Amino acid sequence: MSEQATTTEGRTYPPDPELSKTANVRPEMLEQDLESFWDEQAKQRLSWYEPYDKVLEWDQPYAKWFVGGKLNACYNCVDRHVEAGMGDKVALHVVPDDGPDSSEVRDITYAELQRRVTAVANGLKELGVGKGVPVGIYMQMIPDAVIAMLACARLGAPHTVVFGGFSGKAVAERCNDLECKVLITQDEAMRGGKAAPQKTNADEGLDASPTTVEKVVVVRRTGADIPMSDRDVYLDDLIANASDDPESCPCEPMESEDLLFLLYTSGSTGKPKGVVHTTGGYLLGCATTHNLVFDVKDDSVYWCAADIGWITGHSYIVYGPLANGCTSVLFEGVPGYPDQEVWWKIIEKYGVTILYTSPTAIRAHMKAGEKHAQAHDLSSIKILGSVGEPINPEAWEWYREHVGGGKAPIMDTWWQTETGHILITPLPGITTLKPGMAQQPFPGVRPEIRDDEGNQVPVETTGNLVLTQPWPGMMRGLYNDDQRYRDTYWSKYSDAYFAGDGAKYDADGDIMLMGRIDDVVNVSGHRLSTFEIESALVEHADVAEAAVAAKKDPDTGQAIVAFVSLIGDKQGTEELEQALREQVAQSIGKLARPASVIFARDMPKTRSGKIMRRLLKNIAEGEELGDTSTLVDPSVVEEMQKQVNG
Ligand code: WT7
Repeated sequence: MSEQATTTEGRTYPPDPELSKTANVRPEMLEQDLESFWDEQAKQRLSWYEPYDKVLEWDQPYAKWFVGGKLNACYNCVDRHVEAGMGDKVALHVVPDDGPDSSEVRDITYAELQRRVTAVANGLKELGVGKGVPVGIYMQMIPDAVIAMLACARLGAPHTVVFGGFSGKAVAERCNDLECKVLITQDEAMRGGKAAPQKTNADEGLDASPTTVEKVVVVRRTGADIPMSDRDVYLDDLIANASDDPESCPCEPMESEDLLFLLYTSGSTGKPKGVVHTTGGYLLGCATTHNLVFDVKDDSVYWCAADIGWITGHSYIVYGPLANGCTSVLFEGVPGYPDQEVWWKIIEKYGVTILYTSPTAIRAHMKAGEKHAQAHDLSSIKILGSVGEPINPEAWEWYREHVGGGKAPIMDTWWQTETGHILITPLPGITTLKPGMAQQPFPGVRPEIRDDEGNQVPVETTGNLVLTQPWPGMMRGLYNDDQRYRDTYWSKYSDAYFAGDGAKYDADGDIMLMGRIDDVVNVSGHRLSTFEIESALVEHADVAEAAVAAKKDPDTGQAIVAFVSLIGDKQGTEELEQALREQVAQSIGKLARPASVIFARDMPKTRSGKIMRRLLKNIAEGEELGDTSTLVDPSVVEEMQKQVNG
């Protein structure tokens, strides 16, 4: 990476003066005090059934925003746009897996969205779903997934979306934790030309142990003949007689602080954390950042190529863009299928003006070569976004040059599942861009970079990123686990949110993110915990102990290396390596599958029995080991090194 960094080192890109004149974001906003900034935004951007009487109540570590206010997220994302005469505006350009030339492409207007959401909400009501009744969603990138989320929001039913690529076991775990009575899924998933058994995967998880799920609603995607039990109902059948008249199912007025959704994310220990997001602050944070960071105009065509199973999809495919009444592309598929040009065809066909994606996707396109992008007219692009992991300067330059026509500014946005929306980012028309840096706090956001003792670090010194002021979309805790919330985010420093990322300031005061400092790995912008992968590995009968580290990977950012010791005199074979990789894919999802498995007699342990993870990381990266004198048996690491280095 360091070699690449030198190719662009020191290069900066000042804002286009034209953009500075027309941009939605104004420099004065950066000077506004926290509450007046968000108060103004809340009045301008959201529709409230009842006005709030207090902008912020901050009782660290819990925030309440817009206290006393009532609103509904679905009303803000759908109904009010129709009422304002925007019913014919396209909400979603739906592009199926086989790309924009498919006969199955279609547009969904805001009016149609309103009718479909209403019908599904009425159907869910039949199953007992209503205010405060949680619903699980296990789907891929089809419009019905967006509709399902909005239908829940309409009823005041909290949703938890489980990434469609995760295992059935992950679905069951999450649904049981939140006590979901209903799960919405689809018959099969289509990705990259292949059908995957989504509903059957869900069944496997639900049937493996007792579950709170009583009803599974199945959306027909491929129409395949799949096993259906008494627990299951096709969505088509459920809503066959349901009214789609919005007045038949009015949006439920919710308190600003009522639960909107839970999203489970990986932590460094224990089971996945249920991150709590509530209604008013979250929705406002998403709408405001979406509008100002991407400079959204009435005629913008916006495409966020993330998955709704992650927070990026929640905030920047569903809630932010729809609250802003924006036209979006919803693409079911993956880069490179049906051909290398599919992304560029989508941009050309719909005149996409804003593209928001991950460094991993950009690197995949880079690898395929710029000729594919060059074969299409991408001149509609005005703003580019990047999210999920640090973007290497080489990929940044490629993105600007070949997708952004050598001029579109790139917004490298830093945030987390926990933060709900973008917190550190350049701003269009304001920030002089530096490749590979998220650079500046969004208005109202107060970052600091501190050492372990709590002192702010000098420039060019890596420390821990913290946030010293609350923001509207911040998590409202971990579901049913106050202690874990406090321990994870609020115990390192007494007065600030600890993000878990390393960061440094450069001499101009711009922030550069340096990656996670805990046991969380980031594969293709997706967050996984070493602990969960280790748990999956030790489930295998031959495995005594397992530890996982990440190494740099030119395509996926990080890749997983698993260190495994076996029971008795079992030998590490190629078959066993494959079996273990498969075990992790089955248990968590394909994303978590280790790139390699290293067999060892033991783990590198200190005399007190603690695994020295730092050493595993060094070994995985092929780095010098430094001091190994505290190990019980230093020869273990030498053997591991031999295997890694061949
Ligand atoms: C972690 C959060 C943000 C939504 C998608 C991932 C890393 C995210 C950046 C960026 C450097 C980034 C951090 C963060 N990250 N964006 N622009 N530059 N690192 O959400 O799964 O909650 O992961 O992703 O390490 O802590 P997530």
